Amino acid sequence: TGTDHDLDELLGIAAAAAREAGAMLVAKRPPRPEVVDTKSSPTDVVTALDREAEELIRARIAAARPHDSILGEEGGSSPGRTGVRWVVDPIDGTVNFLYGLPEWAVSVAAEVDGEAVVGVVDVAPRGEVFTAVRGRGAWLGGERLRCNTGVPLARALIATGFGYGAGRREIQSEVLREVLPRVRDIRRGGSAAVDLCSVASGRVDGYFERGPQRWDVAAGGLIAEEAGARVGGLRGRPANPDMTVCAAPELFAELHDLLVPLDPERDA
Ligand code: IPD
Ligand code: CA
Ligand code: CA
Ligand code: CA
Repeated sequence: TGTDHDLDELLGIAAAAAREAGAMLVAKRPPRPEVVDTKSSPTDVVTALDREAEELIRARIAAARPHDSILGEEGGSSPGRTGVRWVVDPIDGTVNFLYGLPEWAVSVAAEVDGEAVVGVVDVAPRGEVFTAVRGRGAWLGGERLRCNTGVPLARALIATGFGYGAGRREIQSEVLREVLPRVRDIRRGGSAAVDLCSVASGRVDGYFERGPQRWDVAAGGLIAEEAGARVGGLRGRPANPDMTVCAAPELFAELHDLLVPLDPERDA
């Protein structure tokens, strides 16, 4: 269990690695970063700095704790034998990074037995570092975070994202057509990790997205939970790539019930 590991040590490693990568990315980002590869679709892009940042973070983790396992978006998974797995998104919001929009983040989480126990989201272009340790609250620097409560769906500002996988835009627009008239407004910030931190800090009321991977939500999800939000999938499932929903419990329930009939996997 998490208590068998030194969570302060894990937080220190995560925060140092995320901040070093964030500073490197801010310093090295050229005016027009080059797309060096595409993944699930032609709009799903990778820059050289995505890879360089992940390599830096992996090197720092491996130097401090050589026997932990690491999962990273760009480098895949490497095995370990301690029960600790690091989950790394070196740039969450690569499209924003590409265009120079200041909403992208370095996301580093440590999991024990599959559950996030430490999360750091360094929103480097804004100079904001969000952190959480399971059971010890969520923080923006030295400020304790609480998500918004008591907001009905009809007055909720909802962040969402549209994953880049091929053929997904049609379904995304169908879901949006149903959701948009039922909420205050929608925000598409461009980074799932930042979206979850925005729920934690009350900058939005809730978040949902179909398609986020573990590295998108591991750190931000813990930060949101530690700020009082519920994070999960549909029908009692944990957050998963089919659907990740995040909001204070009452709003989570309303969002959930709106999304269930729109879930394209409902008969699967
Ligand atoms: C993406 C961002 C985006 C979300 C996508 C993710 P990336 O991550 O988090 O907000 O909508 O689903 O893939 O590729 O920029 O690390
Ligand atoms: Ca990501
Ligand atoms: Ca990424
Ligand atoms: Ca990516």
